[in-house]
Amino acid sequence: MDPRDRLIFPLDVPNKDEAKRFIELLKDTVGLFKVGLELFMAEGPQFLQFMADEAGVEYFLDLKFHDIPATVLGAYAKIMKGARLATVHVDQGLRHLKANIEGLKNGVKILGITVLTHLGPEDLEAMGFAPEYARDPSRLVLLRAKLAKEAGCDGVVCAGSEARAVKEHFGPDFLVVCPAIRPAWATVPGDDQRRITTPTEAIQAGADYIVVGRPIRLAANPREAAARVVEEIRRALESR
Ligand code: C5P
Repeated sequence: MDPRDRLIFPLDVPNKDEAKRFIELLKDTVGLFKVGLELFMAEGPQFLQFMADEAGVEYFLDLKFHDIPATVLGAYAKIMKGARLATVHVDQGLRHLKANIEGLKNGVKILGITVLTHLGPEDLEAMGFAPEYARDPSRLVLLRAKLAKEAGCDGVVCAGSEARAVKEHFGPDFLVVCPAIRPAWATVPGDDQRRITTPTEAIQAGADYIVVGRPIRLAANPREAAARVVEEIRRALESR
């Protein structure tokens, strides 16, 4: 895999025009674009048609639906065609995942969201998680990665600091996608991410893909920022 292919850029923008601008600007520098709730709610499923037919770029459909199995399956079934990767929440439970995964796959690789990266130990404790999990979120991530694997997911989304343990427990072919990536040179005003790592740390720990949004989107020159991340990925791969 080319280092560039490991970089996912989230199209966290308010409308199609902005999305098109970033696709044009970055399509030669990043490997995959991610469509999330903000853009999907603004532009609807037609936007996915645009991605597949007009923009001619592959995408990761990250809608993070959270509901009973029948509802999630019904919603995704209508829009999944054309996506390369898509997400489900592992905390919907094993029964839910098992019921959905096979139906969803249809050429799409399914990733289980383990523990969102904006959550830290105090958040997890306040949400009622037992101290042994709240104080060490990587334990919760491993527990959820196990459920994801058992249910037939192709991989998981977790923090870079958790990537090594996931790869060690579940093998090299179980995909690990890491958001909350902050290059040393980036500053993100009012950052909501908690369990952050640099591109180098995540890739060296075994991440297959990294998701880098604001450090690129808010940079004075987003293309140059993306190229810098790709270069960091290349160097990290050489030393892993
Ligand atoms: O780099 P930045 O923080 O801007 O990236 C934000 C993106 O990462 C959002 O699209 C968000 O949905 C995604 N994300 C994710 N899984 C997490 C945390 C964030 O896919 N656990």
